[in-house]
Amino acid sequence: MSDKAKLKIGGREIELDLITGSEKELGIDVSNLRVSSNIITLDPGYKNTGSCKSAITFLNGEKGILRYRGYSIEELAEKADFLEVAFLLIYGELPNKEELEKLLNDIKENSIIDEDIKKILESFPKSAHPMGILSSLTSALIAFNPEKKLSLSGNEDQDYMYNSIVKLLAKIPILVAWVHRRRKGLPLDYGDYSLGYVENITKMMFQMPNLEYVQNDTLVNAMNKLLILHADHEQNCSTSTVRIVGSSEASLFASISAGISALWGRLHGGANQAVLEMLEAIKKDGGDTKKFMSKAKDKSDPFRLMGFGHRVYKNFDPRAKIIKVTADQILNELGIDDPILDIAKGLEKEALEDDYFVDRKLYPNVDFYSGIIYKALNIPNEMFTVMFALGRIPGWIAHWREMRKNNEPIGRPRQIYIGETLRNFSDIESR
Ligand code: CMC
Repeated sequence: MSDKAKLKIGGREIELDLITGSEKELGIDVSNLRVSSNIITLDPGYKNTGSCKSAITFLNGEKGILRYRGYSIEELAEKADFLEVAFLLIYGELPNKEELEKLLNDIKENSIIDEDIKKILESFPKSAHPMGILSSLTSALIAFNPEKKLSLSGNEDQDYMYNSIVKLLAKIPILVAWVHRRRKGLPLDYGDYSLGYVENITKMMFQMPNLEYVQNDTLVNAMNKLLILHADHEQNCSTSTVRIVGSSEASLFASISAGISALWGRLHGGANQAVLEMLEAIKKDGGDTKKFMSKAKDKSDPFRLMGFGHRVYKNFDPRAKIIKVTADQILNELGIDDPILDIAKGLEKEALEDDYFVDRKLYPNVDFYSGIIYKALNIPNEMFTVMFALGRIPGWIAHWREMRKNNEPIGRPRQIYIGETLRNFSDIESR
């Protein structure tokens, strides 16, 4: 096949380079199109637009494939530890024992948060959404951990970059635990870094004052799996936000804070909270799933089946498959009989047999069953998206680092202007 694409406009023919990825994905390189022809491409929602080349995550939506750095999500969810996956995503290879120990030790040394951050947290109203608090506190961390300007020569400042990464991996779980504990009226503690990374996160979140903490392995394993499944998902609303904010040379912390905000909406990470609220509403309404199916299909009704559909998965979401099995296991192991799970399964079965959903290739996504697990772990609805953010931190860091290492240009899309053409100003009396 030719390595050029040809674009014919009127009598003109423009040759464009073709780019082939390592999985034989084809792209047309339009990066010089405007310079050579004064024409731009228009693609609202970037449905067909590759914004970068990336070596982090491979995803094939038709075949339901998801791999981090070449490793299948199924194998990682089954065998890996979240911190190993974080290292893999950020640095490209699985860590050896020494590298993993060093990372955990460095995290431990940075696991302290300025007391003033506590004051900021306490100044938020109790009703504030945890995602807004997490995004603000992540931004506030910059004031206590000033970041220097990185050289843009393409060679990263290794030590400085490593320290920033370690600080984030150390401090975000503490913030997440604090946001959770404050909502529950519990004291804001630090963790115990004789424990593993995920073990420590669960302890920070769930330890009760004046009670000896006993680790629940079911809970730790569930948390580990959920964090791995959420750790990266190539370009998407929040990750592309992190890359585009970072492309202005904004700091890592500032970029991650923006990513948290982008994740918040219910069409993205906020779907997990929306799914559980939807399932609870169906239960409260008497459990008639057919009624809600009809609402979802009715174009005059804004209701959508939350946790269904995906921008890229048009067959199945591999993460949803793993999560569904995990939800069953967790509820079994914890001895929980939650009618919400039955409603979810009923809804899924009906949707998979319904022409509307089949024709539009709408399948359960990662968020459909994750809320059921979080609920079983006693995590309140409003914290679900925060848990997603906690898992996504390594992915965002990996993309920020890749973007800076590749010395990518500032993100600056174009537009097709459809407003008024030049007109004369009229003074206020004559309007
Ligand atoms: N319920 C009912 N109809 C739907 C749904 C849904 N959940 N999702 C899409 N559709 C319909 C939509 O109305 C449209 O119909 P028509 O062609 O007749 O106009 C068609 O399917 C295509 O929808 P779209 O909005 O153009 O698809 P998209 O690829 O732009 O949007 C989506 C993807 C995830 C935003 C969308 O499917 C959705 O809103 N799902 C519910 C929210 C959700 O679960 N989000 C979590 C995504 S996974 C977590 C993450 O990684 O962010």
